[in-house]
Amino acid sequence: MKNILVTGGAGFIGANFAIYMVQKYPAYNIIVYDKLTYAGNMDNLLEISDEPNYHFEKGDICDSPRVNKVIEQYKIDTIVNFAAETHVDRSILDPEAFVKTGVYGTYVLLEAAKQYGLERYHQISTDEVYGDIPEGQSSVEDDPLRPRSPYAASKASADLMVQAYHVTYGLPTTISRCSNNIGPYQYLEKVIPLFTTNALEDKPLPVYGDGRQQREYQHVLDHCRAIDLVLHKGAIGEIYNMGTGIEVENMRMIEILLDTLGKPRSLIRHVTDRPGHDRRYSLNFDKIRALGWEPEISPEEAIASTVRWYADNEWWWRKIKEGEFQSYYEVQYGARLGSEK
Ligand code: NAD
Ligand code: DAU
Repeated sequence: MKNILVTGGAGFIGANFAIYMVQKYPAYNIIVYDKLTYAGNMDNLLEISDEPNYHFEKGDICDSPRVNKVIEQYKIDTIVNFAAETHVDRSILDPEAFVKTGVYGTYVLLEAAKQYGLERYHQISTDEVYGDIPEGQSSVEDDPLRPRSPYAASKASADLMVQAYHVTYGLPTTISRCSNNIGPYQYLEKVIPLFTTNALEDKPLPVYGDGRQQREYQHVLDHCRAIDLVLHKGAIGEIYNMGTGIEVENMRMIEILLDTLGKPRSLIRHVTDRPGHDRRYSLNFDKIRALGWEPEISPEEAIASTVRWYADNEWWWRKIKEGEFQSYYEVQYGARLGSEK
């Protein structure tokens, strides 16, 4: 492994992963390939923009000739695919791009990996493919897939295509399924950046339904370390769950967020729930534990440090909040919040 194509690497997790790999492995070349949709942001990669082992190429993973050209140009031996449409609420409003990038785009990358005989194709997946998990249960890697949103269905479809390429063509694949990542550079549509920046502006926090849904809030750096381990020690053809083992209710996450900022509970507004909202995800991650990975950052620390990052980095989020995000916010929250938005 020497020349790694990080698709979707200008987004939240992909950028954190590119930064982590560029800094940890000076002998590897990290090539970020990204379409720069509304969620892609070159500011996320500023920390490494002058590093000699980092390169950026703009492109769509659905564009097969462009993907092939970049693979040839940089002698790519490994693809780590983060590229996707990633927000559940947007998938409910308009699923088309989720199917195009998530399903067709993954197919294009798999074909390229097969054609060029790459050493490894790694797919970044999600706990959402297992669907809503009842209390007392946790998902293991070979559980049936029961996605419930168009986003989750696009991710589950991609996983099935990856597995099919491994079984049918012997492609050296791995898949990882993490929980809710949080940390620097997450687009403002996701709950923690949205609620933190709203609270900083003394605006209401729109909590879907009763706010008793549970998520495993995971620091993005723990996730990056886990992907690194699977790339180096994971078994070909396998899937690895990467969770925290600790489910946090959204209302508890919001208390930590508000207390970190010293803001009042009176900012909380319960609004109309997300259709088909999954109440709970829970990952059993014994399989990656056996390779030697454990989460190092507790969910409480991850939430508080993430909130502090947004409080300290208004330069990063202010321009997003004043751009395309405003029209999305109106569509998603206008009727829910009424005159309070
Ligand atoms: P993000 O929305 O922040 O970034 C996605 C990136 O993909 C953007 O830079 C965007 O420009 C790029 N992209 C989109 N369509 C593309 C295309 N057709 N071609 C090339 N690039 C394209 O997403 P994220 O939160 O960083 O998530 C990254 C991956 O991790 C996704 O596959 C997502 O499903 C998965 N995941 C995310 C989380 C989470 O909590 N954020 C949890 C589990 C899994
Ligand atoms: O579980 C992994 C998934 O985590 C990833 O696969 C997705 O790409 C990522 O977006 C995330 O999905 P969620 O839907 O869990 O994340 P989101 O930040 O949108 O919401 C987290 C929780 O907060 C969820 O229970 C919904 C709730 N929420 C969210 C928003 C945006 C609210 O109550 N109000 C909101 O305004």
